[in-house]
Amino acid sequence: RSDNKVTINFINRDGEKVTVKGSPGDSLLDVVINEDLDFDGFGACEGTLACSTCHLIFDEDVYKNLGPVTDEELDMLDLAYGLSDTSRLGCQVCLTKSLEGMVARVPESVADIRQSKDESG
Ligand code: FES
Repeated sequence: RSDNKVTINFINRDGEKVTVKGSPGDSLLDVVINEDLDFDGFGACEGTLACSTCHLIFDEDVYKNLGPVTDEELDMLDLAYGLSDTSRLGCQVCLTKSLEGMVARVPESVADIRQSKDESG
């Protein structure tokens, strides 16, 4: 019986909960792609640590379980819109069984450093 999938609850930009499942070892970006989740602009660099659009915000207890952060991820996170103390890049977070039922919040906006749009006014 294959019940080793991990349940993830994404909170999208409208504040709606989207519950999906992923396999251990998949990144959260993999899950977003595999499940065809429509988070505008999310994962623009396809997991190559060249954008910050896969920014996700977690509850503190979940955040502590997410595994190590690399310097490269931290550098990129610095550029993310709405950075919080419990922010990670979704393409760098891999699923484990201990993350079952986790909540991942999609920030209101993305800052893709490769296309700096001026939206003032
Ligand atoms: Fe670009 Fe994660 S998808 S840094």
